[in-house]
Parts: sequence; structure tokens; C-alpha cells
Amino acid sequence: MSTVTPSTGTAGDTPAAPVFCVDGLWKVFGPKAGRVPGDPELTALDPAELRSRTGCTAAVRDVSFDVRKGEVFVVMGLSGSGKSTLVRCLTRLIEPTAGTIAIDGEDVRAMDKARLRTLRRHRAAMVFQHFGLLPHRTVLDNVAYGLEIQGMRRAERRERAAEVVAKVGLEGLEQRRPAQLSGGQRQRVGLARALAVDPEVLLFDEPFSALDPLIRRDMQEEVIRLHREEGRTMVFITHDLGEALKLGDRIALMRDGRVVQLGTPEEIVGSPADDYVRAFVRDVPREQVMTVRTAMRPAASAEEAATGPAVRPDATVSEAIEAVARAGTPARVLDQGRCLGVVDSTALLDVVAGGVAAPPAVAAGSRAAGAARVAAATAAERREPAPPTATTSEEPV
Ligand SMILES: Nc1ncnc2c1ncn2[C@@H]1O[C@H](COP(=O)(O)OP(=O)(O)O)[C@@H](O)[C@H]1O
Ligand SMILES: [Mg+2]
Repeated sequence: MSTVTPSTGTAGDTPAAPVFCVDGLWKVFGPKAGRVPGDPELTALDPAELRSRTGCTAAVRDVSFDVRKGEVFVVMGLSGSGKSTLVRCLTRLIEPTAGTIAIDGEDVRAMDKARLRTLRRHRAAMVFQHFGLLPHRTVLDNVAYGLEIQGMRRAERRERAAEVVAKVGLEGLEQRRPAQLSGGQRQRVGLARALAVDPEVLLFDEPFSALDPLIRRDMQEEVIRLHREEGRTMVFITHDLGEALKLGDRIALMRDGRVVQLGTPEEIVGSPADDYVRAFVRDVPREQVMTVRTAMRPAASAEEAATGPAVRPDATVSEAIEAVARAGTPARVLDQGRCLGVVDSTALLDVVAGGVAAPPAVAAGSRAAGAARVAAATAAERREPAPPTATTSEEPV
């Protein structure tokens, strides 16, 4: 999804400061778990071998990533791949076995109990799959619950709760109890409760998995809307690829506790890091994920750079196909009035057919590659616009 704040890097923006920095994180369950991360012989074992040799499960294995301010960072993987363990480690609802976690530069693993409480109550609020609503309380009081724990006075917290209830579309239902609500409404209450404390980061652990498809889509739209309006940083866990592609600015794809690829939806779909990821994304309609940058070429003439329908650099190939089909000419990719290049029907259809490579994927943990990619994108973005009379010689970025 596009955001109000610069966050994806591929758009050429300077990445915003990270909220969470996770480096070399391990969570091993089982006897003498602490010996596993530092033992090369044990870490080389596959999950089943490790379990039979040591009785340990490595739920999170040497995971590193940053969550940038204002982005929706999605962690995706099949059931059992380590997503819940990972997100719970972020606020130490589960104690990590090894590695570092920082929030705004502060070492989470060094926090004492009081500091941790502040972290969980004020800074990183969690939205759970099973809502965790209090059955005997009204909607309003459920939403105010987190504020109550914070010690906010009754009148003030009810006023704040009423605001958030309206924000998530539950106006008029303030006095109902959870049993009198639909599943989707209950999930909105859970969301409102997390929002009420105005956290810096919202953490979602598969919040919509139990919802009917249509309600689920509503809730996804709700998250997109909230994100667009508030620019709030979100970490969103899901096992659903469609949901990940729809919501994520960047996606970390997990398998057996490891991050096998970390990138934008376009990078993951366009340049899968390995056969596992390739199999995962095989059925994704590429034209709905890949942007026109993938298919762009320099304008062939000044005339081509000055005529034809305009599309944004982050428009999808699908949107551009529509524009090109309607106009009957190539479309210009315009960024603030400046022509970055053109896309024609051949190049666009090539993307649909899978023939055009996306920008190089960033392998998990490869920070240097990530930095290089961002630097390249930023440099390309800084290039001077071609004079309107000249043929534009810019490379697609
Ligand atoms: N408390 C625990 N004790 C032992 N193993 C656990 C525990 N919690 C999770 N696991 C194991 O860790 C792995 C990852 O689990 P989890 O993080 O829940 O995955 P996901 O959320 O992706 O479905 C699984 O193999 C699971 O069985
Ligand atoms: Mg889980």
C-alpha cells in the first residue's frame, strides 16, 4: 500500500528512522536452549534434527530487520514458521534467547519490569486474533480499558475512548457488550482498544484470520485507511499472501524460523529469492503488484515524452494497461510533472507474462545490498529532469 510517509525505499525516498531494530534474534524453546544459537554444529541442523538431537525447537533463527517509522511491516509465513514467537519477542512477551532488539534506539532486552510495562502499555500495543475483550464490559469500557490500566481518570478516558470508537466505525454501539456484536465489530473493538493508548507501533498477530472473507476485507481496508490517515507504524503478522501484499510496505517472509526474503511486495513477487518463495508467489497476479517502473523505458522522442496519458511511478502495471488501452498510445510515467520514462503495451504485457525482471531482490539479512539498493534508487531519483525538448535519457529506476 502507498503511505503518507516515505517508507518503502524503492520510491527513492530516504528511509525513515527505524522504530524497531532487530539483529541476530533467536528464540529457542526447550532444555538448555541458550546453548543452541552459539553452537555452529547445532545451528546447522534442520528443525527436525535439532529437535531429535537436543529436544529444542528453534522458533526464530537469526532474524534481522528494521521496522521503519510509518511503514506497515508484514511478517508472513505458514503456520508454525515462527511469526507469533517473533512478534512476541519484540516486547518480550516471550524472552528472546539471543540477539538484540531496540525500540527508538533503546535496548529492549535491557529493560526492567517498569520500563517493559511502559513499552507494552504505551509504545507498542498488540491487537490479537481472539480480541481478548472483557465480556461484562460495554464497548466503550473495553476500549477505555488500556487507558484505565495507564491510570487515566474516568471522564478523560471515556472521552478518548468515544473518539476512537467513532474512528473505527462503531458509533452508536458504545453501550453494547461483546456478545451483542458480530465478529467484525468485535475485531474493531480490539483495534480501537489498541489505538486508544495512541501507541507508537501497533502489533497485529493474525487479527483477521478468523473473520469471514468480506468482513476481513473491510478490516483490511480499515487498517489501510488508519495507516493512511495517521501514518502509524504497524507490524502485521499474517499467513495469507494476499493480505501481506495488500497491506505491506515491506514483507519479511519466514520459513522454519528464518526470514527467507525481505522486500517490497514488488520485489518478492518480481524477484523471488529462492524456489520456496517462487512457489509461494506463483499464482499472484503480477500486474496488480508490479509497478510501472518495472516496465518503463526512456521516451523515444521529445514528442513521446510530452504526449500520451500520465501514470504515477507507483501505479501498478494493471492500472497502466488500462490507461494505455484507453488512449491507444504509450503512457508517460510522471513524477511531479517530470517524465521518468514511458510504458508501452508490449512491455506491460511482458510483465503480465512474467518476462520482465523486477529491481534486484534484497536477500534476508543483507543490509549492504539493501543500502545499495536504496542508495541507487535515491541517486536515480535525484537526477535532473530532462529538458522538455530533449529526448529523455533516464534509465528506468
Ligand atoms: N512455548 C513453546 N514451547 C515449545 N515450542 C513452541 C512454543 N511456542 C511455539 N513453539 C514452536 O515454535 C514454532 C513457531 O511457532 P509460532 O511462532 O507459534 O508460529 P506461527 O505463529 O508462525 O504459526 C512452532 O514449531 C511451534 O510449535
Ligand atoms: Mg501464530
